[in-house]
Order: sequence, then structure tokens, then C-alpha cells
Amino acid sequence: MADFDRFMQELKAKNDIVDVIGSYVALDRKGGNHWACCPFHHERTPSFAVNQSEQFYHCFGCGESGDVVKFVKEIESTDFMGAVRILAARAKMEVPESNLDTEESIRKKKKRDAMAAILLDTARFYRANLFSGDERADAHLQYIADRKMLPSTVKQFGIGASLDYRELAEYLAGKGYRKEDILDSGVLIESKNGRLIDAQAERLIFPIINNMDEVIGFGGRFLGKTDFAKYKNTKETMLFNKRNTLYNVNLLKKLKREQPISSVIVVEGYMDTISLYQAGFKNAVASMGTSLTKEQARLIKRYTENVYISYDGDFAGQKADLRGLEILDGEHLKVLVVPMPDGLDPDDVAKQGAEAYQKCLDAAMPLVDYKLHAIERKYDLSRTDGKRAFVKEALQIVSGTDSSAVREDLLKKLRDKTGLTYQSLERDLENLRKENKADAADTVGANVKIAEVARGSDKTEKAERFILAAKLFGADYAKNVSIEKLHFENSVHARIAAYITVCEAEGARIRPAELFEIFDENCPAFNEILDLNYEDKLAGEVAKRFFTDSVATLERESIDREIALLQEELAKTDEQSRRVEILSSLQDALRRQKKRR
Ligand code: CTP
Ligand code: MN
Repeated sequence: MADFDRFMQELKAKNDIVDVIGSYVALDRKGGNHWACCPFHHERTPSFAVNQSEQFYHCFGCGESGDVVKFVKEIESTDFMGAVRILAARAKMEVPESNLDTEESIRKKKKRDAMAAILLDTARFYRANLFSGDERADAHLQYIADRKMLPSTVKQFGIGASLDYRELAEYLAGKGYRKEDILDSGVLIESKNGRLIDAQAERLIFPIINNMDEVIGFGGRFLGKTDFAKYKNTKETMLFNKRNTLYNVNLLKKLKREQPISSVIVVEGYMDTISLYQAGFKNAVASMGTSLTKEQARLIKRYTENVYISYDGDFAGQKADLRGLEILDGEHLKVLVVPMPDGLDPDDVAKQGAEAYQKCLDAAMPLVDYKLHAIERKYDLSRTDGKRAFVKEALQIVSGTDSSAVREDLLKKLRDKTGLTYQSLERDLENLRKENKADAADTVGANVKIAEVARGSDKTEKAERFILAAKLFGADYAKNVSIEKLHFENSVHARIAAYITVCEAEGARIRPAELFEIFDENCPAFNEILDLNYEDKLAGEVAKRFFTDSVATLERESIDREIALLQEELAKTDEQSRRVEILSSLQDALRRQKKRR
């Protein structure tokens, strides 16, 4: 372990970040930083900064940041060790293979590599089948033609064909892969009598590729007409997990380097994605049938904050999917829902031409409006009872919105749809809100408390963040203030605080770049701390005062916590001598608390 740390230190020392990044993009020295147009997103004016003294980079446009290893990892679309190898070669260093990590992680890494190789070879095998001239591929080619996929599209998406049950097994065995690794990769399954058969037998193959350009699994479509299991996906494996994946994220990543991505279109299926791509909507990705997950929402956020949800025309009825959309709100993405003609999916519409789909996009609306639009179809508004039922359900949706401006707007829309007067709708809404409030009465008290705590903790977060940033980036006023005794609530913050404390105890230099080994992926809590430095928030009198205040805030909270604990203990203790001790500590803590208020 220690050996590897030493190796990494030398590797980074011999690969100055400015030299390495400078070999990929032209850097321009200005002020303390080197600047370039960001290689990770399209832009015309440089907002990508490389800091030589701290050995890391940060882009103000898209938020990418990291040290030299992370940079190579991203730009080469490889993993951590892949980047280490590239940098080692560059510095003419030997990678100490055997000492790299624990045995367990070496084993895992080997497993992963073996599976990735098998999946890649399998994708090649399927693709070769499609163009082999074998007559068994005629059905697949015919299917592709029927669904109007162009040859260039077929190539771009790496589409292939399985022609039977057995050939893939022979092919993979011929390549020398181990049976165990093949089964773990999910491409073959073992039949009852022990034979290995193609998991996608006879299907049309859609490779699923991650943002490191690795094939991680396959979707296979049955060629005939069926709704029963028309698609079959690779089983969940170490590499393939539907929750973490978006179909077409690989081409989206490529697109981001070529042009600005102002929005992402989320569709349900493989064919929706492909048809949209072919019609020029290259920013489409598929959630692959499931309702959206938090992981998928975060993946989208790396590209843009504007999301079009473009699900099948009949999805409104499925509550689960609408709930999925609230996840996007939770990740602070701006969501518009694209209405589809009944019974059609984006694939059907895109086939009518790009204009037809663009029309749908132009008609996209916020989630509440969409919900109203969707329930409207359930009722016959020309009948009184239909109208009444519609209004009742619609007002329930309207009452769930926080903004009074939005509520007013929705009421106007309801008025126009139903012919009822605005005043009567408003009165009904008011009554409904009162009812809902009464229902929630018992929980209101609790909610207020939660809101208070949330406000308090927001202040704490800010204080924690500022203290750590000032320490990490060596602000003068922070140098002689020890943070060892402070308690950091946020777990990322606590980890960083521990790092700082260890450095100070050992008299070592605090180097923010070292933290990239711990917070490797886009870690928002960490990035917010970096931003404080880049936004120049750490210098000056105001910063100094904020730092002092922040330390005081955390100290005050730690006294509050101490008091709470003592009181709790006091309540549980009967033994007289111990009670005296507790009371005296409590008095002392209360005195300190009073002094600070
Ligand atoms: N899906 C799946 N397994 C199934 C059915 C669907 O994994 N048995 C996923 C696939 O990613 C599929 C998506 O859900 O693309 C949407 O399903 P659906 O709307 O039923 O299929 P379409 O994409 O419309 O398929 P097609 O146009 O090929 O009929
Ligand atoms: Mn379809």
C-alpha cells in the first residue's frame, strides 16, 4: 500500500498537469492559471482552468474537475488504472503490478477486464454476423429495413445479429476465455444439460455501451410480432446495471465534445433513441423501459440541466412513470414533458419526419400542465358529471403546486377548458386546500421543526465548507486555527477534515489534489469546496470574518451537542456521585454556551 502511494506520488511529480493537459489542448497562461477551451464540453471562450501550483483543473462551464490522473481518465475514456498506465508510459516508469492494491481488488479488476473483453468480442461477433452474407441474417436485415434504419445508423449503434444458439459459445471458447468469466459476463447461459447457449439466440442485437466506451451488455429484440418478452436484456452483472445506465450515453459524450448540449431527450426504448438520432435528435437517451432512477438523473446532469421526457403516448396512465419524474425535480433538473399522440411512441413520430417530432418538442410542457393534459383525456367534458369529476381531480393537482403564480395560470387554463368561472374554481380550490390542511394538521408541527432543522443545517453546511476551503487552499487567516476538535456533519466534509488534521499532525503539506484519489467521481460536496477557491471567495476581510464566524458556528453546535448528551445522561443516572459530576460539566457547558450567544 505504502509502496503504491509512493509510486503515485512519483508518477504525479513526473507528470506535471500543465505538460500533460498541454499535450491535449493549447493552454494560455493568464494570471495564476493556464486556460483553454474545455475539452469535455463544447465552448468558444475558455473557461477551463489548470492550476499548476495545486496540480488540478476545473471547468467553470461544465464543472469537470480533478487531478492529472482524473484528466487522463476522462479524456482517454479509461478507468483509473488505465490512466495510471498511460501516465507511467509517458514518464517511462514501471507500474508495480503486484503491489498495486489488495489482492481482492486485483481479482475484481481482472474479472472486470475479462468480462469487458468478452462483451466486446461478443459485440464484434454479432456485428460480423449481420454482414456475413449468411442467409440466416436475411431476417435481421429485412427487419432493419422494415424499421427504416439506415446503414450509417446501424454502424453507429453497432447493431448486430445472433444467428443461432451455439455459435457464440464456440467462438468465445476459440478465443480462450474461461467458462466462468463468460457466464459471469451474461452473454451465454448454461442449459439444464450443461450446454452453453447464446443468451440472445436469434435476436437482433443492440449493444449497450457506457460512457467509457465499454460494451456492458446487450438488448436483444425478437424479430417476430410479439409483446411477450420482445426484448431481452443481459442479466445484471458487475458491469451491467440498468439503474446506472442510459442507452446511448456513449454517443452523447462524444456529441458533447463537438457541440453544446442544451438539452437531453429521455425516451423509453432502443428504437426510440435510434430513430430520433437518425432524424437529427442526437441528444436522445433511453432509460430502457424502467421508470427513471436517481442514478440516471445524475448521469444526465453531467451533460445538461434541461430534460425533455418523451415517453410513449400511453404512459400518462402509469402513475409509476410520473413518480419517476419527480426524481428529476429532486436533482434540480428542469423538466418538460413531451406530449405524444395517443398510441404512438417517439420512434413512430420520428419516422414521420424530423418536423413531426420537432412539433411535439415545441409543445412540451411542465409536469403539472402535463398531468392536467393527461387526466383530461379520461373524462368526457361535454357531460356535467364528466366535467365535475375532471375538475375535482384537476384541482387536487393544482393544489399541490407551491407557486401562486403557477396556480393562477392553471386555474385560467381550467376555466378555458371547462367554461366554469374563475371565481368558482378559485373557491373550490380554496376549500380543497383547507381540507388538505386539516388532514395534515397533526403533521404540521413536525414539518415546521424539520424546516427549522433544515435551515440550521444549511448554515452548518456552509460553515463547514468554508472552513475546509480556507484550510485546503492555505488562507492566511486559517493557518493557525486548529480544526481537530470541530465536528463536521457532512460525511464528505468529515473525510476532508480528517485529511487536513493528519497532514497538520505530520507537518505535511496540504494538497487538495490528493483528495481526488478519495473523491474520484463527480462529488458535489467536494466540488462546492473547490468552487469557493475558484470563485475567489477566500481572500479579503469579508472572507476572514466569515471564517471566524464559521468556526464559531461549529463550536457553538458542538457545545449544544455536548449539553444535549449530558442532559440525556443525567436523566438516566441515579447514582449520586455521578450526577454531581454530570451537573458540574453541564454547568460548565452552559456557561460556555451563554458566553457565545
Ligand atoms: N424493454 C425491456 N424488456 C421488455 C420490454 C421492454 O427491456 N420485455 C425495454 C427496452 O429497452 C425497450 C423499452 O423497454 O426498448 C420500451 O419498451 P416498449 O415500448 O415495449 O418497446 P419499443 O421500444 O416500442 O419496442 P419496439 O418499437 O421495438 O416494439
Ligand atoms: Mn416502439
